[in-house]
Amino acid sequence: MDTAATMYADPPRTMERVSRRDIFTSLPARIQWLHSFLEFGTDDVQALISGQKYIKAVIPAIVNIVYKKLLKYDITARVFTTRDSRDEGPVESWPTEDSAQIEHRKMFLRWYLTKLNSDCTRMDYWEYLDKVGLMHIGKGRQNPLHVDYVFLGACLGFIQDSLFEAILSHPRLELHRKIAIVKALGKVIWIQNDLVEKWHNTDGAEYAQEEEADTLLGEIAEDEREGYLHGKKILGDHDGSSIFTSRTGSSKSSDSGKTSLGRPIEEATHLGDGMSRCPFSGMARSGPNPADLERQRATSTRSPRVNGTAPDVLQHAEGKPRAESVRS
Ligand code: HEM
Repeated sequence: MDTAATMYADPPRTMERVSRRDIFTSLPARIQWLHSFLEFGTDDVQALISGQKYIKAVIPAIVNIVYKKLLKYDITARVFTTRDSRDEGPVESWPTEDSAQIEHRKMFLRWYLTKLNSDCTRMDYWEYLDKVGLMHIGKGRQNPLHVDYVFLGACLGFIQDSLFEAILSHPRLELHRKIAIVKALGKVIWIQNDLVEKWHNTDGAEYAQEEEADTLLGEIAEDEREGYLHGKKILGDHDGSSIFTSRTGSSKSSDSGKTSLGRPIEEATHLGDGMSRCPFSGMARSGPNPADLERQRATSTRSPRVNGTAPDVLQHAEGKPRAESVRS
């Protein structure tokens, strides 16, 4: 019998140490590691800041097409009545795009997208994204909601596609800026996806007792009003003009053969065909026309590397962004 002790090696000094326990018990640790892995850094923050006005302009249109999409399928539409995508029983009434209930939901999606388009160097930004994941699994509310992950992931993918399309089809933004904005947005949306998906799987279940999420849950239970985090109103407290947008932005349908923003796919494969369909046309003069926004589309583009570092961009308590590179 071999009694020799097994020799273990420490990871090489060049290898970063990551605690699995931390990832599953601490939201900041999870976010920090995702930032590091995705190389989400100051370049991305800058790109998002520079892209804010363009994203803000397309939010009303995106809200409309997302709800058009969710109400196109019975399996997603019924959730607005049943509050549970696992419930396949008969439905008394089906929501419509212009029902008061859906108008109300649209307002929250506008607020959510406005929040997504805000200062991502603050921890409460990521906490809110986490809360959005949590609220769709039947926790943190007196009147629970359960949406299976497949619908949430698809919805996020659709939001990402629409945002990318809008940015990439901008007629005057330089390509390198489009690339930077799309790269940064993609990272944020993938982190949002993680913060949705993590509530649906059992990874790290052995740490459940220690999870900070317990604290978060408790706080949500204390104050479960929509748009609140830790008892503070974090949605809809600014930028009201963009939040309470009129319904003039109702979209063209996303029939087959059209892009997610309603533009025929054939057209969409030709860039540079003038300003007439520009989602941002007239923005400087009179603000964007959401109906135009919904007819837009761009082709995809190859993305050269524009971001060489992966700093921790979360703000310190004093409010200063930490920007130390974790890569050599
Ligand atoms: C992944 C993309 C999604 C995002 C970002 C999102 C976001 C939100 C937000 C921000 C709220 C309310 C916010 C608050 O309390 O502050 C909400 C509530 C709700 N969501 Fe979602 N949602 C998504 C996908 C879905 C899908 C796919 C469905 C249904 C198929 C759905 C159904 C609902 C319902 C029914 C509520 C109402 C909850 C209530 O009345 O208490 N969501 N969602």
